[in-house]
Parts: sequence; C-alpha cells; structure tokens
Amino acid sequence: MPRSATVFSCSACGHQSPKWHGRCTECGEWNTLVEEARPAPAGGTKRAGGRALRPVPLAEVQAPAVARLSTGIGELDRVLGGGLVPGSLALIGGSPGIGKSTLTSAALGNLAGSGHRVLYVSGEESAAQVKLRAERLGGHALKVPIVAETDLEVVLATLEAEHPDVCVIDSVQVLYDPALTGAPGSVGQVREVAGRIMRVAKELGIATLLVGHVTKEGSLAGPRVLEHLVDCVLSFEGERERTYRTLRALKNRFGSTNEVGVFEMVEQGLVEVEDASERFVTEATRAPGSVVLCAMEGSRPLLVEVQALVAPSELVPPRRVANGVDRNRLALVLAVLARHGGVGLGTSDVFVSVAGGVRVDEPGADLAIALALASAAKGIELAGDKPLAAFGELGLTGELRHVAHSDRRLAEAAKFGLDAVVRPGQGATTLRDALRGATKARAA
Ligand SMILES: Nc1ncnc2c1ncn2[C@@H]1O[C@H](COP(=O)(O)OP(=O)(O)OP(=O)(O)O)[C@@H](O)[C@H]1O
Ligand SMILES: [Mg+2]
Repeated sequence: MPRSATVFSCSACGHQSPKWHGRCTECGEWNTLVEEARPAPAGGTKRAGGRALRPVPLAEVQAPAVARLSTGIGELDRVLGGGLVPGSLALIGGSPGIGKSTLTSAALGNLAGSGHRVLYVSGEESAAQVKLRAERLGGHALKVPIVAETDLEVVLATLEAEHPDVCVIDSVQVLYDPALTGAPGSVGQVREVAGRIMRVAKELGIATLLVGHVTKEGSLAGPRVLEHLVDCVLSFEGERERTYRTLRALKNRFGSTNEVGVFEMVEQGLVEVEDASERFVTEATRAPGSVVLCAMEGSRPLLVEVQALVAPSELVPPRRVANGVDRNRLALVLAVLARHGGVGLGTSDVFVSVAGGVRVDEPGADLAIALALASAAKGIELAGDKPLAAFGELGLTGELRHVAHSDRRLAEAAKFGLDAVVRPGQGATTLRDALRGATKARAA
C-alpha cells in the first residue's frame, strides 16, 4: 500500500498518527490532531547537514527604509500603522457580512488607481459577484484584476506569474492544498495555505491581505491558528444591523495596536467616519439615562453616548442586558451602585447600551455607566443645554479611580462644547461624590 503523503500530528503532545482521531491516543486531548504534509525521510546522517552561518551584528544589517503603500483609506492606513508594508502579511478577521470584502476591494481599487499592481483572489464569490460590488463601490474598484480560484497551487502560480505589489486572498478558509486530505478551512489546511502564501509573499515582496472568518466564539479552524504566522491581525467588528463598524489591530509588527478606525456601511460601501465624536454627541438624546462617555479608542479620544433603561421587573433574577459594554463590567457597576451609591436595582430590569453599535472595552467607562443608570433609575435628566460627560473607573470600595489620558478626554469634550465633565479628582473621590456632582452640575 502506498504511504499517504500526510500524517496527523497532535498539536498538544506531538504524537503522530496515520489516521485522524477525535482524541489523541497518546495524551488523551480532544480535537488536537492536525493534518500535515509528511516530512521528507531523514538521510541517515547523525550530524546536522546545513552550512553554518556567520552571525552579523545588528548594527551592520542593511535595512533600507521601505515606503509604505497607502490604501487610500485613511482609517485603514492608520490602523496598519501608516499603510501596508511591502512583503508583509496581514489578516483581516470578522464575522460574516461585516464588510471584509467591501473594505479590501475598496483598498485594492485605490491602490490600482494610484498606479500599483494589484490582484484580488476570490475563492468565495464568482468574478461576476465581485464585479457587482465593485460597481457599487465606484472609484477605481473596477480596475482591479481578479481570479476566482480555490486551488492553492494555482493561486501561488498566479502570484508568481503576476507579481503584484498588493494582493487580497478572500478568504484563507476556502483555499485548499490538494496534497492534504482535510477539508478546506480545517486547521491543517488553513495553516498550510497561509504558510505557503507567506513564503511566496515574502520572497516576491507582495503585501498580502488575508481575509478570515471568525465565529461568535472567535475560534473555529480559522484565524486563531494564523495569528502567530502573520505580521498584523486586524479585527473588523460591529453588529451587522448597526451602521458603525470598527477596525482594530490585535497584533501589529509594524505599528501600534492602539489604533481604531471607525467606518459606516452605506450604499457606496464603507465610508470612514472621521468625526465620530461629533456624530455621537449631536445624536445624544439628553433624556434621563443618557450620559456621554469620554472614551479612548486606542490613542484617539472618542465621545459616545451611554444609555440606560431601568424598568420594574417581574422576573427573578431580573434582566441584565448589555450592548457594547462587558456584561461582567455592568454587574460590577450595579453592585457598586447598590452598595456605595444608594441606588439598588435588584428588582428592576436593567438595559445598558452604547449608542451607534460601538463597543467600549475599558475601565474608564464605569462612571458613565453608573451615572446613566442612576439617572435612569431616578428619572433625573442630567443634560443641560449640552449633554453631561463623564469618565473614570469604579473601585470595589466605591472609590473613583484615575484612568489614562485624562487630558485628551477632557480636550475632546471641550472641543464639542461639553463643559460639564464628571471625573475622578477635583473633590470627587467616591461614587457618591460623583453622583452628587452630576446632579448639582445640572441644578446650577
Ligand atoms: N446596496 C447596499 N447598500 C448598503 N449596504 C450593502 C449593500 N449591499 C451590501 N451591503 C452591505 O454589505 C455587507 C456585505 O459586505 P461584504 O460582502 O464586504 O462582507 P464580508 O465580510 O466580505 O462577508 P462574507 O463573510 O460573506 O464574505 C452586507 O452585510 C450589507 O450590510
Ligand atoms: Mg466576503
């Protein structure tokens, strides 16, 4: 019987097996067997066969400054750390329908418009489907050359023949290496596909954008196994029903991971939202339960409206619904409010939401959530002619804690005329002080 070209290796203990098992027969871990190409048989020599290299001091290493490629999408360039680096590999992950193909198509269109050689490899959609999107996007999107292919060997040959400056692979999960028996999208396939694309991309200096799918759990045989391999991991987030989408870098070998881009999905594709704060502030409702949060999205301050609704509940335990903020964070704020703020909501349904579908993941949001809840519970409007703004972290003992970048948060609030900002310091050291300060700011 001919030996199969592949083996299954346990990613936990390294045990190899000719067949796939759900559970490793060696270490007993579940779902760890991954298909790999069988290594070439060893030559029988005991010594390492390679030629020894002479290490070079870093100071003598030649590193010519490389010009980054601008995608023409300011928010994307910023998240990438100033544009695409030639020869780099970036992974854009996101849930289905979030706009990954739209963003990458628009970026390639702009690059083609500025005279770069580009290539779009579509494994998921036919060329005709991609064309329909390009027509919707307008601009230079129709200039982008496309191949619709899922066979890795063919894609690599095309890359070598075309030698583009920038290429998009949409998506890495549908490409397959015919030498492996695993289905496209399985861990072994995805790793092999990405690894081989990376080798070609580095060799030829092709900046490559890999599109990847993530499930709600963030795992599935997918982008997770690629995160170590690629240079950048960008995550495209947002709720499909909402218009705002955020793009953030989870990993970036060429720039900060603190940058966030905000986009809006419209008929003509994704448009950048540069004045995000202004929109959120003008849209703020100013009703009881509404507070503007001076948040930091990476290095950029962003004003968003936090809304809370408190309603009598028949349920035990009552509902706790959080949109755009962490559920555990909400539970903590509710507990601190009850224990140290005199606002007990144990028999009420509580809903908290960040308007516009933005997600805020920072402790600085605590105080704004607490004030919105207290205002909703008591039916007191905190807004005067301008909405009330707040930021600060809540400690478990009811104290207010300082958060990073106070000056920039204040400056952003001042820019939009929000003069009343409740925050740690200036006499407010506890949640009670802040609650008193918030109502007094409005009484005055
Ligand atoms: N005519 C239109 N006007 C406004 N928005 C549209 C229009 N057509 C499509 N969209 C939006 O584009 C989204 C799909 O974008 P896109 O195909 O780029 O997503 P994707 O992340 O690549 O999805 P998939 O995971 O299926 O590949 C849809 O969810 C929809 O919101
Ligand atoms: Mg797509």
